[in-house]
Amino acid sequence: MYYSEDLIEEVRLRNDIVDVISGYVKLQRKGNSYFGLCPFHNEKSPSFSVSPDKQMYYCFGCGAGGNVFTFIMQYENYTFPEAMKFLADRAGIELPSQEMTAQTRQEQDLKTQILELNKQAANYFYYQLRTENGAHAMEYLSKRGITKETMKNFGLGFSTAYSDDLYRYFKKKGVSDELLKQSGLMNVDERRGMYDKFWNRVIFPIQDVNGRVIGFGGRVMGDGKPKYLNSPETIVFDKSRNLYGLNAARISRKKYFLLCEGYMDVIALHQAGFKNAVASLGTAFTSQHAGLLRRYTEEVVLTYDSDEAGKKAALRAIPILKAAGITAKVLHMDPYKDPDEFIKAEGGEKFQERIDQAENSFLFELSVMEQKYQMTDPESKTLFFREVAAKLIEFDQELERENYIEAVAVRYHVGFENLRKMVNQLAMKGYIPKIQLTGREKKLPEKEDGMKKSQRILLTWLIEYPKLFETVKKYISPEDFTEELYRTVAEMVYEQQRNGEINPAKIINHFEDSEQQMQVAQLFNTTVSVDTKEDLQKAVRETIAKVMENSISYQMNHSDPTDISGIQKMIENKRKMQELAKLTISLS
Ligand code: GTP
Ligand code: MN
Repeated sequence: MYYSEDLIEEVRLRNDIVDVISGYVKLQRKGNSYFGLCPFHNEKSPSFSVSPDKQMYYCFGCGAGGNVFTFIMQYENYTFPEAMKFLADRAGIELPSQEMTAQTRQEQDLKTQILELNKQAANYFYYQLRTENGAHAMEYLSKRGITKETMKNFGLGFSTAYSDDLYRYFKKKGVSDELLKQSGLMNVDERRGMYDKFWNRVIFPIQDVNGRVIGFGGRVMGDGKPKYLNSPETIVFDKSRNLYGLNAARISRKKYFLLCEGYMDVIALHQAGFKNAVASLGTAFTSQHAGLLRRYTEEVVLTYDSDEAGKKAALRAIPILKAAGITAKVLHMDPYKDPDEFIKAEGGEKFQERIDQAENSFLFELSVMEQKYQMTDPESKTLFFREVAAKLIEFDQELERENYIEAVAVRYHVGFENLRKMVNQLAMKGYIPKIQLTGREKKLPEKEDGMKKSQRILLTWLIEYPKLFETVKKYISPEDFTEELYRTVAEMVYEQQRNGEINPAKIINHFEDSEQQMQVAQLFNTTVSVDTKEDLQKAVRETIAKVMENSISYQMNHSDPTDISGIQKMIENKRKMQELAKLTISLS
């Protein structure tokens, strides 16, 4: 925390969340809340809610959620201090600059300085491309079919053949060696001292979602090695949290995104009108990338290179996308190597056809699997189907599984019933499918997930029905929340309840990690559908019981059998549970 809690609260209170979000999202009142189309993922019907009572937002579609600070941070891609400044300005509150600790101020300063250097470097490269020195670079780019307008849109540039051109440029401006070193724009070695990282290359500035230049890629003009050189990670450049082209793609308003491998692919695609194309930055696709994409879309068409490496990369990306809640499809590029080549040869219309024909990612995975088997040999073919059946079990919704069984049966010319039997037999043998444990939507065993849900519901209710606290506190203490994050939040909710000020939006300020902030928002926005007051009371009683029960069994599994006080507490809890069964609960 860089500012005092009081000041943070003042800024938050002076920025009503409905007011602030209305500036970005069209909201409509529905009951106690406002609803609109979620700005963090693409959707057609509104699942994004803003609650004036809780001063929080939450999207029931993608799980984005938080308070007014996290909204600004997510939407504008601001750091916390930047969001604080923005909202303070909005409310006319002056921020004392000494409130930042010396270290954070230095870090903030360093970030600002490096972003400024990057901007100047980008301008310098941009300018060089348009001088006599850059004529052959210009020719190279033109030959590759890039128009002047696209060059401008992507801010393309050129680093001259002198290895200390940019260095001298910055020195003349009085920039320190230390700062240059941290910018990633320079190499340092003992023999040569400091010199430019990029020289004699075409330059691709890398922008974050807000269009700030955070790094660079540079390509040789011809066959030299390495073909591409990329900025190292710096204080402003985190490769696994940024995607090339995202700043333009995020406002493309397309239902799906195109995910490709290279700078040139993104550029060629945007030029051909596919402004929804992005690429990871010369690194493998990570779950952070997927999380970032999930803010804007639910569907990705993989347009990776058609070679073996591209196929492998697609196979790796599919489960990562899936785990983040994104449906993946695979586009077939053949006979071309990559989108850039395809578009040059066939044009955008043909590419759109390929998008429309993109293959379901499951079937794509099968077609790769198939290559391990000899499909003309009955034994090998049977083994193939066994592997397919094992994969089919992973669909836990019956209808979905049946649909896939049908699709496989059709594609591989086998009987639907036969295949279904095989899948069911395998399932009955207790075959446990491998479950991907990456990304936000970790699949949990049903029971555990159910437990966590009960704990979340209880926290939501404690916020929505403050009266309930009197009852709940008799049965449940914060320690009964078995998830660490939940327990921390429960402690704060109990504290607020005791002080008679219920303020969930404030609790979110205690968490700095955005993933945690979202989880906390989810804790206060868990819904169950009940129709009548009686149903609600029954649900409350059952939920309290479930949380208690879980806490008891958790303690049994984790406690030292010789610890008397632990055992006494367990016995006490069991007694309370019997009492609970007879209780009538009042909510208001
Ligand atoms: P061209 O069309 O030949 O300009 O390249 P491309 O965009 O088709 O790229 P390619 O498929 O060869 O590589 C995909 C991406 O991987 C590039 O955009 C770079 O980000 C990265 N990459 C390629 N070659 C290198 C290299 O030699 N070093 C590093 N660090 N990254 C590379
Ligand atoms: Mn290429």
